[in-house]
Amino acid sequence: MTKSNVLIQLDPDAHASAFDALVAVDSTELQLLQYHSVADEQVEKLVHGAMFTRGPKDLRHTAVFIGGTDVLQGEALLEATLRCFFGPLRVSVMLDANGANTTAAAAVLAAARHVELSQCRALVLAATGSVGQRVGRLLASQGAVVKLASRTAERAVAAAQEVSDAVEGSSVTGVMVSETSQLSSLLGDCDVVVAAGASGVRLLPQEIWQSSDSLKVLVDLNAVAPVGIEGIDMLDTARVIEGKVAYGAIGVGGLKMKIHKAAVARLFESNDQVLNVDEIFAIGEALTD
Ligand SMILES: NC(=O)c1ccc[n+]([C@@H]2O[C@H](COP(=O)([O-])OP(=O)(O)OC[C@H]3O[C@@H](n4cnc5c(N)ncnc54)[C@H](OP(=O)(O)O)[C@@H]3O)[C@@H](O)[C@H]2O)c1
Repeated sequence: MTKSNVLIQLDPDAHASAFDALVAVDSTELQLLQYHSVADEQVEKLVHGAMFTRGPKDLRHTAVFIGGTDVLQGEALLEATLRCFFGPLRVSVMLDANGANTTAAAAVLAAARHVELSQCRALVLAATGSVGQRVGRLLASQGAVVKLASRTAERAVAAAQEVSDAVEGSSVTGVMVSETSQLSSLLGDCDVVVAAGASGVRLLPQEIWQSSDSLKVLVDLNAVAPVGIEGIDMLDTARVIEGKVAYGAIGVGGLKMKIHKAAVARLFESNDQVLNVDEIFAIGEALTD
């Protein structure tokens, strides 16, 4: 008898994400098992349940999805999951805490439609959140020279270090932005700006970005008014404003959802996949070819 696909959702938050659950069931035919408040030390028991219940040839019908709010906490759960596997006894795993990997992939692919990333300079605003960190990492892995901004110098430097450690040979700098007036000089040589700030926080006034001669692409990921980049509509999808190409949060969100669903479906193609930021970006690239 063909086994049904089962996705085991591991979420460190008090409530397992309803968003992740809904996207999962809309991705492919599957049964969902949700676990919340999952700590690293609880992973082994849950993952052993995934590994040892069905026979080896049916392992591709079971997969693990790691969500939650904090992508670094998600990384720790991913490592704990991978430590459980040995030999062929493993199941496929996807990490997308806070939608960070799928959203960042969609944002960077949007920018890549208009600039050659390996030749470009990019500024990520509020780059210390889960989404901003992943945007910075993907831009760096594509060869962009990247500045990661935070209101706090220590957080900016830590975010840059995180990306430098993850992407060999990357050119990443942390920059503190305590006043919006500082953004004029930071944008002076940038081709791309991505605003990854918290919901409802305006980060970049229009008069600043429109006076940058070098800026070609603006991507804003905040859909809650006021949006992160003044003058952008959340629905914008490659809309040209003041000679620059703009994407709003919903404009990016369409591709994000396609990538997310394709990644969940991909999990059940074999039992040995680990879908983290680079693999999810590659899925997005294939979708946009
Ligand atoms: N379009 C989509 O499909 C999609 C999917 C997922 C998420 N999102 C959106 O992506 C954005 C980033 O998500 P996230 O979870 O990474 O965000 P987050 O962790 O809530 O916030 C990101 C950063 O914003 C900065 N920030 C927070 N409050 C601020 C304030 N009052 N003023 C200025 N900066 C402030 C902080 O940076 P510092 O303290 O370091 O300055 C924080 O690390 C959110 O707007 C989220 O809604 C969009």
